[in-house]
Amino acid sequence: MNKNLISILDITKTQMEDIFSVAKAKDKLFEKNYNTLSGKILASLFLQPSTRTQLSFQSAFLKLGGKTIGFSDINHSRSGPPYYEPLDDMGIIVSNYCDIIVMRTIDATYMDDFIKGTSVPVISAGSGNIEHPTQALTDLFTLTDSLGSDLSGINILIIGTPRQRTINSFLLGISNWKNIHVHILCQKGVLLMESITNKFLNKIEVSYYASFDDFLDCGISNQISVIYMDKIFKETYFYDEFVMTSTQLYQNFTPDTIILHPLPRTKELPKYFDEFPGSKYFTQAYNGLYVRASLFLSYFIS
Ligand code: CP
Repeated sequence: MNKNLISILDITKTQMEDIFSVAKAKDKLFEKNYNTLSGKILASLFLQPSTRTQLSFQSAFLKLGGKTIGFSDINHSRSGPPYYEPLDDMGIIVSNYCDIIVMRTIDATYMDDFIKGTSVPVISAGSGNIEHPTQALTDLFTLTDSLGSDLSGINILIIGTPRQRTINSFLLGISNWKNIHVHILCQKGVLLMESITNKFLNKIEVSYYASFDDFLDCGISNQISVIYMDKIFKETYFYDEFVMTSTQLYQNFTPDTIILHPLPRTKELPKYFDEFPGSKYFTQAYNGLYVRASLFLSYFIS
C-alpha cells in the first residue's frame, strides 16, 4: 500500500479486497487481534467536525490495543492564531509523537500541505470536497457484503449534489469493477467534478436526470441495484424535487435495492426510508469500525 491513503486510488482493488476479507470477521477481528497494536499511537486530527469517521477510527485503534492522541480544533494548535505554524511544519512535529495519523481537513490543500512534512503514514478522513477514501471503503465493503464480491455490471442511482468527497471517492473506488452505469438525479447543469471524471473515463457510464420523472422515463428503475444518496446542497434550486416520497420508493424499486447514505442525513433521506428492506445506511456506519480496523492492521501487519 502507498504510505499515505489520501485518495481511494492510492490502494489497488486487490488491497481493497484484502481489507474486506479481514473486516468480514467483524468482532472476531478484534478477538483475533487483541493487543496487536500495543505500543502504537494514533494521532487523530479532525480539523473539521465528524461523528462516525472520528469515533470509528479511534474505537478501532483502541480495540486493537493501541492508544490515541490528538486534537480537533486547529485553533487549539499552533497552526491556528496567532502563530499560524505552516501545516508542513505541523506534519514534521506530529510525526515525532505517533506511528500513524488520521486527519480530516475542511480544505483539501491543507491535507496536501500537511503531508509534505509527515514521516509516518497519513490516512485521510476526508479532505475538503475532494475525497473521503475510507468512506468509499466502507461503502464498497457494505455493497460486496450484500451483493457479492463482483459488482460488475450494476446500475447505481445517485441522488444528491454530485460534487462531494463521498460521491467522488465512491465512484473512483467502484471504477475498479467493470461495466458500471451510474445514473445521477440532480439539478440540471450540476455535474460531477471534471478532475474526478477524468480519472474514471471509459470505466463508468454516467447519465444525468433533472427530475425524478425524467429518471423514471428511462425505464430502468427496477434494474437499479444501489441507490446512493447524499446531501442535496440547498443552493441547488429544486431541492424538494429530489426528495423521494414513500410511494415513489416502494412503487419503483425492488425491495432488495440497497440504499446507502454516508450520513448525517438531511431532508433527502426522510425517516420512512428506514423501514425499506434494502436500507443499509446504519449497517454502513457500523461496518466503518471493522473496515477501519482492518485498514490499520494492513499498515502494521506485513
Ligand atoms: N460519513 C461521515 O463522514 O460521517 P462523519 O462526518 O460523522 O464522520
